[in-house]
This record gives sequence, C-alpha cells and structure tokens, in this order.
Amino acid sequence: MKCRKCGGRAVLELRRHNTAFCGPDFVTFFRHHVLETVRRWRMFTTDESVLVAVSGGKDSLALWDVLHEGGYRTTGLYIDLGIFDYSRASKARCEAFAAERGLPLRVVAVAEEMGAAIPAVRDATRRPTCSACGLSKRYIMNRAALEGGFPVVATGHNLDDEAATLFGSTLRWDESALARQMPVLGATHAKLARRVKPLFRMSERETAAYAFLRGIDYIVEECPFARGATSIMHKELLNRLEDTSPGSKAMFLQGFLDKARGLFQEREPVVLMECVRCGQTTTGEICAFCKLRDQVKRAMRPTERTAAAVDLPSTEDPPSARGLISDFHAASEIHAP
Ligand code: AMP
Ligand code: FES
Ligand code: ZN
Repeated sequence: MKCRKCGGRAVLELRRHNTAFCGPDFVTFFRHHVLETVRRWRMFTTDESVLVAVSGGKDSLALWDVLHEGGYRTTGLYIDLGIFDYSRASKARCEAFAAERGLPLRVVAVAEEMGAAIPAVRDATRRPTCSACGLSKRYIMNRAALEGGFPVVATGHNLDDEAATLFGSTLRWDESALARQMPVLGATHAKLARRVKPLFRMSERETAAYAFLRGIDYIVEECPFARGATSIMHKELLNRLEDTSPGSKAMFLQGFLDKARGLFQEREPVVLMECVRCGQTTTGEICAFCKLRDQVKRAMRPTERTAAAVDLPSTEDPPSARGLISDFHAASEIHAP
C-alpha cells in the first residue's frame, strides 16, 4: 500500500477516507484536520491562553502536542483523582510530557478539593464512580480556568468518545444530554469557561497512531473503575459497525450535529446562579460539587477522612451512604447551554 501524498510505503490505512499515509504524511494530515477543526468551529485563537486538560492518555497528550506545535499558547491541567497506581502513572506521563517541551502544567488533587480521593468518594456514596468523577473533573477544570485566567478549556474527547456518548443519549432519548452534545460549549455565564473538543473528528485509532508516531509516552491502561462501563460496550458496538461500513461513526455524529441537534435545544433557557458556598455556577442554591463534598464528609468518620485525603485505602468497610446523593444530573449544570 502506498502513501497518498508521497507514494512511499504507507504505515496506516484510513478506510473511511479511502486512503493511506506514510508516518510523516499522516502526522501532517492529522495536525491539519485538528487545527482546521479549531478554526472552523472558532474554538479559540492564537491570542487566547488555552488550558488543556490532560489525563496522561493518548488523546489529551496528542491534543496538547498538536496545539503546541500549531503555535497556540497552552498550559496543561492534570486532575489527580487519587486512583492509586493508575493516577500516579498518568500524572508522571503528563509531567514528563510538559518537562520535555518546557510547557507549564498545573496539578489539582480531588482529595484536596473534595476532602477525599475518588476511591473514597466511591465507597462513601455507592453511586457510579464515573458520575462523581466526571462531576469533579468538570468542576475543577472550570474553576482552574477561571482562577488562572484561561477563557477556554480543551479536552481530548475523540470521535469514538463523542459517537458513543451520542449513541447512549439517543438510546435513552435524553433530551438535555442531546442538547449539550457539542464540540464547543460556549461560556453562557461570566463564571463559565468555554469548553472545546478539537479531536472530535479524529478516531481513537488515528489519535493512537499520531501519539505513537510522535513518540509520546502515554498511559495505555484504562481507569480501573471504567471496566464494564456501558460506554465501552457502546464503543464496541460502533466499532463493529465501522468495520463493516467505514465512516459510520463520523456520519452518525456529524449528521446529528448538522441536522438534529437543533431539535433538542433546550426550550426553557437554564437560569444559572452562583453557588452560595463556592461561587461556581449552579441552577439551585448550592452547586452539585459542594453537595457531593458535604455528602462525602457526612458519610465518612474522621479517621477515614484523614486516610482518604492521603489516598490510603480504608481498613474498614465504608459506611453505607446509599441514597445520599439525590441527583447526579445536577452535574450537568456546569456547562448547561
Ligand atoms: P475521559 O472522560 O476519561 O474519557 O476523558 C476525556 C477527556 O477529559 C480527556 O481527553 C482529558 O482531556 C480530560 N481528562 C480526563 N481525565 C483527566 C484528568 N485526570 N485530568 C485532566 N483532564 C482529564
Ligand atoms: Fe473517573 Fe475512572 S477516570 S472513574
Ligand atoms: Zn459550590
């Protein structure tokens, strides 16, 4: 197979584009697509400072690489979830990436903001870990952006992530999730940073190839709490579809953005207020993050609180706090359109 650009030996076939590239030409192709997405969707300009949320995985580090090489002003943000070896290894990847390029990296620990790291939050609430984790990440990203003077936060969500989210929301006909499914979520309140997903047109396979060809050292393991998640099953289903019919994922997502999303625009505009505790946006009096922090605090005894904050596993069974968290949908208040 030959590279479409130079005629040399191709290393990657892209069936959905009916083409193939050698390593250097694929890197050029990938960068071109991502930077074109940033411009076409008016995600940010070279005058703005961009906070790139990096998890240590291939997507967010590839994104940081493309934006930095593309001349954008970037700072990394790593959120330490305190998930034992997984967090330690992913943080090390982000630190090494930043140090090699002389780029600034900010690190914020959930344990410090919440009073407990994610494993202890999971034990204390007995709710799906990913929802508490996702809420914490969105909250910390937004606050770090506001405090650091960044108008925009970029995340590494790729085509596979976005198509799987859309698939899940469609199965449930979750109208508010469908209304929020956008590669650019504008700052609809003075206390909200814009949130953008410049990789939303690039598949996971393409992003992995880019990271590999650029020699980026990323963490391959998935979060241990993600095992068995429905989103993984949805990704597998979509991959099977893509195998038999290349381009399906992109068609599904792009078709939705072009033709259907407008139908789900929230009819009643959401009125955002400032949380009386922390000042971040909320639809009620107290934001979802502050409520979660209170609930975690109530559910843990003082000794457990200390252990959780320093990321040590508790020696006792966690007390049940079933039902304490009433509604994680409140998490969507951050960045509600
Ligand atoms: P995930 O929700 O784990 O699929 O991650 C989606 C995106 O969120 C990643 O590409 C990152 O941009 C961002 N992200 C995930 N985990 C972290 C983290 N621990 N710190 C900073 N950003 C993160
Ligand atoms: Fe949040 Fe796994 S990354 S629960
Ligand atoms: Zn709050």
